[in-house]
Amino acid sequence: MQSRVRELAGQISEEYRDLDPVVIAVLKGSFIFVADIIRHLEFPLTTEFMRVSSYGNQVVTTGEVKLELDIASSVANRHILLVEDIVDTGLTLEYLKANLEVRRPASLKVCALLHKPSNNVKISNLEFVGFNIPNEFVVGFGLDYQGYYRNLPYIAQLELTG
Ligand code: IMP
Repeated sequence: MQSRVRELAGQISEEYRDLDPVVIAVLKGSFIFVADIIRHLEFPLTTEFMRVSSYGNQVVTTGEVKLELDIASSVANRHILLVEDIVDTGLTLEYLKANLEVRRPASLKVCALLHKPSNNVKISNLEFVGFNIPNEFVVGFGLDYQGYYRNLPYIAQLELTG
């Protein structure tokens, strides 16, 4: 995980070094990933946080996205790097991108730790992706099942029985 995080940070640095970006982490799932990533970014940036709910306690999406916590400052004319834990159907990301685009940022790009390409109903541009994974439910490194497992220092596939 750490070597891939470093590689991603390298790509991000090349692009954002002189842009004074705002890094927006999507809570809760991306809190560990974003903390690891930004500690490799050696240039000025600010951080903001958004929280959306889309799953409740289910493992399949309800298709309904709700904004529960908004960023605290204006992003007009700022270069936004949106950091997601995982892109599954892409519905959450589409919602967030539409929500942020209307605030007229200078640019908006996405960094996702994990991507399940086979499950995309919305094709989104993902500029930075850690790993493409199969369509399985995973936990750890910030990702949860019913609030648990976020603290695992690795990604694990959760076997759901019953
Ligand atoms: P999407 O809207 O279907 O792309 O779902 C995105 C959100 O669903 C992510 O930000 C996660 O919070 C959650 N999610 C999707 N797949 C998984 C998984 O395998 N493990 C844990 N959470 C997941």
